[in-house]
Amino acid sequence: MIKFLRISVFVPIILVALPTSLGFQFVHHNHEAMLGVMNDANRRCPEITRIYNLSEPSVRNRSLTVIEFSNNPGIHEAGKPEFKYVGNMHGNEVVGREVLLKLIDSLCQRYRENDRLIHFMVHSMHIHIMPSMNPDGWEQAYKNYKEAKEKGGDPNWLIGRANNNSVDLNRNFPDLNSIMYQHEAEHKGRNNHLEKVEFAIKNVTNLQPETRAVMKWLARIPFVLSANLHGGDLVANYPYDTTRSGKPQEYTKAPDDATLRYLARSYARKHTKMGKPHKACDMTGDDNFGEQGGITNGGEWYSVPRGMQDYNYLDTNCFEITLELGCIKFPWDWDLEDYWQENQDALIFYMLQSHIGVKGLVTTTDGVPVKDAAIKTTNLTSGEYIAHDILTAADGDYYRLLIDGYYGITVVAPGFHNATRCVHVNNTMAVLHGAQRVDFELVSSDKPKPPQEECDEPMIEPPEDEYKEELREQLYRLQLIRRQLSAEEWDSLVRRMIADLQK
Ligand SMILES: *[C@@H]1O[C@H](CO)[C@@H](O)[C@H](O)[C@H]1NC(C)=O
Ligand SMILES: *[C@@H]1O[C@H](CO)[C@@H](O)[C@H](O)[C@H]1NC(C)=O
Ligand SMILES: *[C@@H]1O[C@H](CO)[C@@H](O)[C@H](O)[C@H]1NC(C)=O
Ligand SMILES: *[C@@H]1O[C@H](CO)[C@@H](O)[C@H](O)[C@H]1NC(C)=O
Ligand SMILES: *[C@@H]1O[C@H](CO)[C@@H](O)[C@H](O)[C@H]1NC(C)=O
Ligand SMILES: [Zn+2]
Repeated sequence: MIKFLRISVFVPIILVALPTSLGFQFVHHNHEAMLGVMNDANRRCPEITRIYNLSEPSVRNRSLTVIEFSNNPGIHEAGKPEFKYVGNMHGNEVVGREVLLKLIDSLCQRYRENDRLIHFMVHSMHIHIMPSMNPDGWEQAYKNYKEAKEKGGDPNWLIGRANNNSVDLNRNFPDLNSIMYQHEAEHKGRNNHLEKVEFAIKNVTNLQPETRAVMKWLARIPFVLSANLHGGDLVANYPYDTTRSGKPQEYTKAPDDATLRYLARSYARKHTKMGKPHKACDMTGDDNFGEQGGITNGGEWYSVPRGMQDYNYLDTNCFEITLELGCIKFPWDWDLEDYWQENQDALIFYMLQSHIGVKGLVTTTDGVPVKDAAIKTTNLTSGEYIAHDILTAADGDYYRLLIDGYYGITVVAPGFHNATRCVHVNNTMAVLHGAQRVDFELVSSDKPKPPQEECDEPMIEPPEDEYKEELREQLYRLQLIRRQLSAEEWDSLVRRMIADLQK
């Protein structure tokens, strides 16, 4: 029987400090300085980075600039998930912006130092990082911060939150939740990709350039996982954000509730504080995020209509969570390094979650990729259909993020017979090797229907337990330090680990 690995083996490992680059400074970066950090990473790591701007700039003509990390940046590659981080959507919530800049610096640095984990990531996925979605709001907030710093007070809580047209960008996306909830009630209509982006852009009132640019970006790149970094609390928030009933607070499950909870938890667990008991930010103590593992359902916290998180889920394949990185929205610059220390492992570990579940290629029997085929998932443990289909991308590839379990995956595409496979998902090694691959060859519907796989009887599997999380975490940690060990040290560590397992 497999036992817990003895923690003692790993304790010293956690204490190993990661190298920092010499050039990066923990200060608040204005727009030019922000672009400077991104350009510097691009200059030091040209073969694995690309810098690009979204299709239009902010109201005040500041670029919405993204850096992409991949060994083949700029080209979507079938089989490699696309991941994104977006920071500073609220201009006065700046911790995300600064930790993302440090992350950019650190990814490049660690790649150059032959860090195996970073090499694995750069070769197995595409990582897009946009440190600021609201560069105009940041300027307003910074002015206010500087004044407070000179006078010795605290910065105003709200200045710079909105964009330069005074619009809160996280209330500016199309309201797709109303459409979704109506479809649910009527038991008809789509459960994904609810509106074509061109239509949505025309149809939504008061759409801001920053929002429009992001909507077009999401339509162009087939993202599968994302986080939107905010501040003002300490919690990982998962869909839905808009309550079904319209009440100001109510737990509002998305069909992927179990997987979304896991994703939020995977960030909170690796953050040094978020997932542990901690004080509530508002001092009233009416949120107890620390006691619920550092995560919350969006609707249960407070209903947010027209937010970016639910828009991702309802109009694209992307699962997005919203991270609140601390009580203070615009902290003093001497505190920034602490925020990086708190978040750095979580930022990396969360990106690796792009590899959970199942991925594959959908083609015709002649090998032609099938675009926009629906990937339908049934949870064979509960017998329930997870009513959120994923669509294949232009190259016929799909990514179905799922927690451990037993699933029926059915591909549905017009002109073809449906095809089903039964799949056991075990994510323990996925974060080191990529998701298991399940490809489909669709047979044209004018040919006879091929025989289908018979799934076993639904079986009850033990729920995700702490043991599995522990094991996954330790494998991750091992990977982190592997590059710092000699071959002999590595061998001896693995031998001790196996010996421990056999006890
Ligand atoms: C992005 O926009 C900025 C400012 O408009 C410009 O200086 C920069 O060259 C642009 N970057 C790219 C990659 O087009
Ligand atoms: C916006 O910025 C770009 C690039 O920096 C510049 O070419 C353009 O003239 C600016 N537009 C306006 C309206 O200021
Ligand atoms: C918009 O930007 C201008 C120029 O920086 C500034 O004077 C103005 O106060 C800003 N308005 C808002 C609502 O942020
Ligand atoms: C788009 O327009 C239709 C009909 O005018 C409306 O019912 C729907 O709610 C709108 N959708 C959004 C996202 O605004
Ligand atoms: C599948 O069903 C089991 C049993 O009800 C449940 O514990 C698990 O969370 C479900 N998985 C997903 C991905 O919904
Ligand atoms: Zn915010």
